[in-house]
Amino acid sequence: MSGPAITPWVVGNWKMNPMRADAKQLVQELKQLLLNQNIEESKCHIGVSPVALELQSIQAQFSDCSRSISMVAQDLSRVAGTGAYTGEISAELLKDSAVECVLVGHSERREVFGDTPAVLNEKIKNALNAGLTVIYCVGESLEQRESGQAEHTVLQQICDIASVVQPEQWNKIIVAYEPIWAIGTGKTASPEDAQAMHAKIREGLSQISPAGQGMAILYGGSVKPENAVELAACPDINGALVGGASLNAESFYKIAQAFANTK
Ligand code: 13P
Repeated sequence: MSGPAITPWVVGNWKMNPMRADAKQLVQELKQLLLNQNIEESKCHIGVSPVALELQSIQAQFSDCSRSISMVAQDLSRVAGTGAYTGEISAELLKDSAVECVLVGHSERREVFGDTPAVLNEKIKNALNAGLTVIYCVGESLEQRESGQAEHTVLQQICDIASVVQPEQWNKIIVAYEPIWAIGTGKTASPEDAQAMHAKIREGLSQISPAGQGMAILYGGSVKPENAVELAACPDINGALVGGASLNAESFYKIAQAFANTK
């Protein structure tokens, strides 16, 4: 089934990396690659997600880039607004710092920091109310895949957020399918398996909202230049959430180029 054309998103999740000097060099190299051969904004949205501490500095470093690069926060508080919440960064504070997007529900947040579906729902509600775009991450563990629970797990994660996203807010949600067993392991879901899951996700989203047909569904998990073209060729894979390979300017650029050229 061919739905509406969806401009792909390629987002670099830098996680708890790198040190400042390396980040500066990474930005410089990426800007140079884009200057030599630009990737048209209409062909691919590009975003980077540095540590919160560096969001403003990285944004400033990209201010003279030949194209726009979206700043994506890696997380936000379950508490909205401002107040006595030591260590927290709210959706409103992100928005006030010109951050436009935020990751929610990354498996590292779910597994290491105990972000439950209830907590994720609070974060999503706050982000959407503040006008941020949410990149909502879903994905099954190896155990769940091997026991035939992958699809059920992922569709449940989609259903989990249905009660907090208002009908008119679905166009501010991007889904990222990241099978946990493929994150940082060098193992990628085969394009067939990834496409099959993406199609299921789109079906699930479309049952919840008419916006589902036009929503970007990104793939994440050991995406690299070597597998980006094949993944980009899949009809329901509308971009990539890139971890390790986004710390290398050339690799990240090539992944964005693959999506821009293939879609
Ligand atoms: P890797 O690309 O390093 O596997 O990480 C994927 C990821 O978790 C992106 O959010």
